[in-house]
Amino acid sequence: MTEPLGSAGAARPIVVANWKMNGLRRAGRDLAEGIARLKQAGGELACDVIVCPPVTLLFELHDTLAAAGIALGGQNSHAAEKGAHTGDISAPMLADSGCSHVILGHSERRANHGETSEAVGEKAAAALAAGLGVIICVGESEAERDAGDALDVVGDQVRKSLPEQGGSGDIVIAYEPVWAIGTGRVPNAEQIGEMHRHIRDLFKQLKSGDVDGLRVLYGGSVNAENAADILSIEGVDGALVGGASLSAEKFWGICAHYGH
Ligand code: 13P
Repeated sequence: MTEPLGSAGAARPIVVANWKMNGLRRAGRDLAEGIARLKQAGGELACDVIVCPPVTLLFELHDTLAAAGIALGGQNSHAAEKGAHTGDISAPMLADSGCSHVILGHSERRANHGETSEAVGEKAAAALAAGLGVIICVGESEAERDAGDALDVVGDQVRKSLPEQGGSGDIVIAYEPVWAIGTGRVPNAEQIGEMHRHIRDLFKQLKSGDVDGLRVLYGGSVNAENAADILSIEGVDGALVGGASLSAEKFWGICAHYGH
């Protein structure tokens, strides 16, 4: 079982950088060094920070990030431990590359690779078995929100994507409304708060009351300008950041919300 990264308590918030398919070696190195420098200069943060670069950069960046107390994560992993799966990466391979976490079920993978919630659940079980913490992504489309189905859709995703194994210490859930990703649009505070409560209640039910250590992150157009408002919403335990994580300063502007 993966221990929470920090020591300040079970539900320490997390800010995760998801670089997606961005970053050749030079640019990735510059970005990681920039984030590491800002973290080292910024003093103690009341949150953990995880950077999830493309898999080609995991080795390249591990030492730089680790020296600054920043954890490393993958963006996807296969449900099998090994075998004839050309082009795929297994959870033990990520762990072996120094990752502590893996993002699973991102809406881009659900849309582009037909990943179902059941498949995400299988991947999550394999990742937990490899000793990784999992960051399971859920979120409704715009049409689903407009139809008033957001809570049901996300509830169904949580129910089916959660593995039987694991608990609030090693499973993180990221609520990322599909219509808020990369669009500059963000749900209002009530909508975010309501969804996070819903996810937490469901997790508690599904995991027999084991909910105290659960982190529910918000993702979708988080930036340095709106971070304070979003991260102050009750039930938001951190952020999953895409576009703004490709600039060290912008990403740090989000993490700094948890500074002193
Ligand atoms: P943006 O922050 O670019 O909206 O992306 C969010 C996301 O998909 C993070 O996983």
